[in-house]
Amino acid sequence: MDTDRAFRGRRVVLGVSGGIAAYKAVELCRRMVDAGAHVAPVLTEDATRFVGALTFSALASEPAQTSLFNVDASSGGSPIPHTRLGQSADVIVIAPATARLIGKYAAGISDDLLTATLLATRAPVVIAPAMHTEMWEHPAVQENLVTLRRRGVHIVDPESGRLAGGDVGEGRLAAPERIMDAVADILTRSGDLAGVRLLVSAGGTREAIDPVRFIGNRSSGKMGHAVAAQAAGRGASVTLVTTAPDTAPAGVDIVSVVSAQSMHDEIVGRFDATDVVVMAAAVADFRPKVVAGDKLKKAAGAPEIVLEPTPDILAELGAAKRGQVLVGFAAETVDIVAHAREKLTRKNADLLVANDVSAPDAGFEVDTNRAILLDSSGASEETPLLTKAALADVILDRVAALLGRAPTNPDQEIP
Ligand code: CTP
Repeated sequence: MDTDRAFRGRRVVLGVSGGIAAYKAVELCRRMVDAGAHVAPVLTEDATRFVGALTFSALASEPAQTSLFNVDASSGGSPIPHTRLGQSADVIVIAPATARLIGKYAAGISDDLLTATLLATRAPVVIAPAMHTEMWEHPAVQENLVTLRRRGVHIVDPESGRLAGGDVGEGRLAAPERIMDAVADILTRSGDLAGVRLLVSAGGTREAIDPVRFIGNRSSGKMGHAVAAQAAGRGASVTLVTTAPDTAPAGVDIVSVVSAQSMHDEIVGRFDATDVVVMAAAVADFRPKVVAGDKLKKAAGAPEIVLEPTPDILAELGAAKRGQVLVGFAAETVDIVAHAREKLTRKNADLLVANDVSAPDAGFEVDTNRAILLDSSGASEETPLLTKAALADVILDRVAALLGRAPTNPDQEIP
């Protein structure tokens, strides 16, 4: 990838929080400026204990800022510097991100300029954590990172190596080139789905047996939620029809459903006003023909439950589509490609994402996935093991190509 091309003319807020790795952010700042970005540094008070604001001011595109309340030249004279910074940024990069910064961001606390800017932006956010191994592995930090990932925040994981005080372990700030590459990736993709109306389904449907019991499946909704979060980050207006509404990504319209029928009704009703549908939900194929009005009692003996088919939502959309891009999933355990190709054709989808749900690191409930992408031209692409967020971006790259969207950067010169 041409990193310089991704950065040229883009506005980056470089947030620096207070850890020893703060000195490495100076190098990052210089690289971004060299790549043609407009870099606005924002330092926490603790960061200034490690590196002087003047160092960043000398290298960056505008003076470093450290306070919500400095109405002087360093804030561009603005009495509300966080909103100016948040609204004008193309991307916000926090390097290093301390455990404290991560905790405050996850909790929505905005008690300094950097955390206030994070809450005042709709731009993509990249955080590169750095801390001691014990802190990095602490459940509080890891749970905060899960929360941030779910909201669409990009995390550049730390590396193993020498830490402050001579310790060695995981927690060292990622190398500047890894952070540069991650940010360039995001800048290249950001806005490429602007104006696209995208509908995503997620989670396993529940088919009622009686008021208490249901037939369900193991889908957690994580893959569909990752697609929704990444698509929103790339500018799409996203509606997420989900059976797991409690883990809503930021900036996404949520429609909560339970059964295959309710998911069908919500999706079909919106189809005409939609450009792309991604069916990541695990829709039950069958439901009880009769739902008992009262709880079935054990004393009455084992019930005989007669099943009937549910509507096949993707197949119905495939038959009705008028230019919409349709993406289906295929959860398989054997003959993955053959089954997936048959589904692509039968349901008239444009792209099918097949995955082996019997693998422990792919499929249900985990945060990673490995997939084979099949399209109607007959081509197939196998991905490595990726986070669900990264796989979502790979799928959305294909969607953008199917819509004829090129990666965006208004200031790029076309060679
Ligand atoms: N799907 C759907 N409506 C259904 C069942 C599935 O829209 N009633 C969608 C899923 O969301 C997925 C694709 O169709 O995008 C394939 O789902 P899958 O369960 O793998 O396929 P099925 O057609 O149900 O076939 P089988 O269960 O026999 O593998």
